[in-house]
Amino acid sequence: MTASPVGHLQDRVAIVTGAGSGIGRATAIALAHAGAHVLGVGRRADALRETAARHPAIMALPADITADGTPQAVIDAATDCWGRLDVLVNNAGATAVMPLAETDAERVAGLMALNVLAPSLLAHAALPHLRTHRGTIINISSTYGHSPLPGAAHYAASKAALEQLTRSWALELAADGIRVNALAPGPTESEALTAAGLPDTVVEQIKQDEATRIPLGRRGRPEEVAAWIVHLADPAATWITGQIITVDGGLELT
Ligand SMILES: NC(=O)c1ccc[n+]([C@@H]2O[C@H](COP(=O)([O-])OP(=O)(O)OC[C@H]3O[C@@H](n4cnc5c(N)ncnc54)[C@H](OP(=O)(O)O)[C@@H]3O)[C@@H](O)[C@H]2O)c1
Repeated sequence: MTASPVGHLQDRVAIVTGAGSGIGRATAIALAHAGAHVLGVGRRADALRETAARHPAIMALPADITADGTPQAVIDAATDCWGRLDVLVNNAGATAVMPLAETDAERVAGLMALNVLAPSLLAHAALPHLRTHRGTIINISSTYGHSPLPGAAHYAASKAALEQLTRSWALELAADGIRVNALAPGPTESEALTAAGLPDTVVEQIKQDEATRIPLGRRGRPEEVAAWIVHLADPAATWITGQIITVDGGLELT
């Protein structure tokens, strides 16, 4: 890839879902620093406001992307405001500890609605705009989109689905000049474990166990993931599509 100068996303328009925390917040800020106008989406208005306060090019849109009609409304909000859309980062997602013995239809459906259906409907609504500007889609998967995760099989399955959507859309949309890639982070500091409803002591234990298992000896920082999302969004990344880029301190090799 040819290195782009600072501001290589100047005047491009990006949407980042889940921009109120963790990887999504870091990504919104990094894209804004690269010159893009960024629409940050999430349910908590206060969390999004904090993200937007970090850069004037970030606009907050509080919304539940699993709600009927919201994916189209999110895309419309960006195009109404800036007149175009170049980058869709499907980052909002959730994990769920759910061994088979405790598998519950409502929780499975909720996980799939957020991790698979909402990114699909957002990409669908974004398509005409991405076609016009030869834009790009970046889906946020996980190391566990391509490695088994006992005790959280449906999370792993939802991310595996997102990886196959990525490869299939990449082929489907290549003729339009639309690139579709996925970033697969390993365990990264964020609100994900707390958001999964786990008690603080369990969260701390999981974090310690993960750090021990990661060859580089620690969990990642959201900024370390965001930097690769910005690389994939870079218009200079003209010859990469359909790839799943794992950024996990070597975890997938273990
Ligand atoms: N952190 C990790 O270790 C890790 C590892 C691999 C993959 N990932 C993936 O990385 C992505 C980002 O997660 P994260 O780690 O940064 O966790 P996080 O801090 O929990 O961020 C997830 C974001 O998604 C938003 N969100 C959840 N449900 C939503 C909904 N229905 N509508 C709109 N927004 C919604 C949340 O905001 P609201 O609650 O305000 O809506 C939150 O800001 C996820 O797809 C996750 O699966 C994370």
